[in-house]
Amino acid sequence: MKRLLIGVAALLVVGLIGFTIFAWRPAFIPIAVPAPTSFAPEQVARGAVLASAGYCASCHTAKGGKAFAGGYAMATQFGTIYSTNITPDADTGIGTWSEAAFKRAMHEGVRRDGAHLLPAFPYDHFTKLTDDDVAALYAFLMTQPAVSAPAHRNTIPFPLNIRALQAGWKLLFFHPGRYRPDPAKSAEWNRGAYLAQGLSHCGACHTPRGALGAEKSGQMYAGAAIDNWVAPPLTKANPSPVPWDQVELATYLSTGISRYHGTAAGPMGQVTRGLAALPAADIQALAAYFADVGDAKTRAGGTAAALAHARSSDRIGVGLQYAPAARLYTAACASCHYNGPGEPNPLRPDLALNSAVNLDDPTNLIQVILYGISAKDGAPGVVMPAFGRGFTDADVARIAAYLRATRTAKPAWPDLATKVAAIRAQGRTGE
Ligand code: HEC
Ligand code: HEC
Ligand code: HEC
Repeated sequence: MKRLLIGVAALLVVGLIGFTIFAWRPAFIPIAVPAPTSFAPEQVARGAVLASAGYCASCHTAKGGKAFAGGYAMATQFGTIYSTNITPDADTGIGTWSEAAFKRAMHEGVRRDGAHLLPAFPYDHFTKLTDDDVAALYAFLMTQPAVSAPAHRNTIPFPLNIRALQAGWKLLFFHPGRYRPDPAKSAEWNRGAYLAQGLSHCGACHTPRGALGAEKSGQMYAGAAIDNWVAPPLTKANPSPVPWDQVELATYLSTGISRYHGTAAGPMGQVTRGLAALPAADIQALAAYFADVGDAKTRAGGTAAALAHARSSDRIGVGLQYAPAARLYTAACASCHYNGPGEPNPLRPDLALNSAVNLDDPTNLIQVILYGISAKDGAPGVVMPAFGRGFTDADVARIAAYLRATRTAKPAWPDLATKVAAIRAQGRTGE
């Protein structure tokens, strides 16, 4: 018995030593903060575009805080994780990081001092970036104003907060390596896939995650819940009545609005604002890639029928004009959301065509009714007002149920009022 115990203990010790060696990464020696003039202006400009399309500022800027100074809170199922200061401040930022240290962080998720980074930082996507693109990002960040802002403490409980354990997570879920082009596809497709899978990490929101927070490999872009919103599937399971094609994808991704689909609201708003910095050819490449992911070719041809259905379902006189729900909708929404015989007007999205009304989950529709769409999202110069103050939960539920019943042939959403109350309790998210 004693011998067995000693054996088990010895095994544990050997295992622990083995894991420690396995998890260990060397530190990079701190460098003197590089002079901004040591970087070529073209490289800095290219880095600025890449930083925009990788939304570095969205995650690395706290509400009302200085750009890239960190402190932005991300609620996860394990606790709140705060982004860090990536300005070139020597003490609290990445000023003393060499380019090699920065590259290792982007490609392998390891901090300058050798500690493992958490996958709330999407290094599992950034690992696909070319060395050249990472160098441009480094040049851009190192030429930004240095801000002194110490890191916030994460609220992840012990023992999950032990960074060495991340080595185990990486072993299970992380596939390091640069993007490898698919020779069977066009150069445009591969450029789109490179941006989508790497820098712009579309799957970070649109791919469902497993219990340990990793994206499910077999379900790329199958749709997922994120920040009290739903990122719809981008595969052929997408519920839009008009199938997304390359033209509409390109318009939506670069302007945040599409006449056949609606507005990029919530967490998608910052995405389209970030992508807008990309050259037109890159937007087209992303659109070509996602037209293929969504199987636009075989689904093409549904547009005319979807438009005809949308027009006919928009009429008030469908026997529901005296129903309280129809009256509420007419008074609150129809002054802006009506359509005529021609092409849909992107400035007042046709709700029959909108994914929010067609998804299995009413979350996005409830979000938009409660909190509206701010001026910075979607079409410039128009806003969707917030109805959360004037409407009770029952009012919001009634309008959502009415739209679902009159605009789609899909089953009614269950427990709408409960869902409205839950989303209201969370407050506005995804900005
Ligand atoms: C989805 C949110 C998110 C996005 C987008 C994001 N980051 Fe981060 N990043 C984080 C979080 C959270 C951390 C801290 C992780 C930790 O503490 O382990 C982090 C850490 C880092 C670090 C390590 C810094 C340190 O001091 O430990 C670097 C470098 C970094 N990010 C660079 C970038 C760059 C460059 C981009 C844009 C291309 C970017 N990040 C985009 C969330 C994000
Ligand atoms: C931060 C999370 C996040 C990221 C990153 C993200 N999306 Fe989204 N996306 C969303 C959410 C949430 C919605 C729903 C927005 C709405 O209802 O207005 C959405 C909506 C969309 C839609 C509209 C779908 C529909 O049927 O209405 C498309 C297309 C889309 N995203 C493509 C992309 C692409 C391409 C990328 C990468 C370049 C991307 N998304 C990155 C969260 C994200
Ligand atoms: C004052 C005009 C106005 C009123 C009233 C209005 N909307 Fe909107 N709505 C808009 C505009 C404008 C947009 C597009 C926003 C943009 O592009 O910035 C929009 C967008 C939407 C979207 C699309 C969201 C997306 O993610 O694509 C939905 C859904 C919506 N409205 C529902 C409603 C409902 C339901 C009501 C009534 C409770 C309503 N709206 C009342 C102006 C209005």
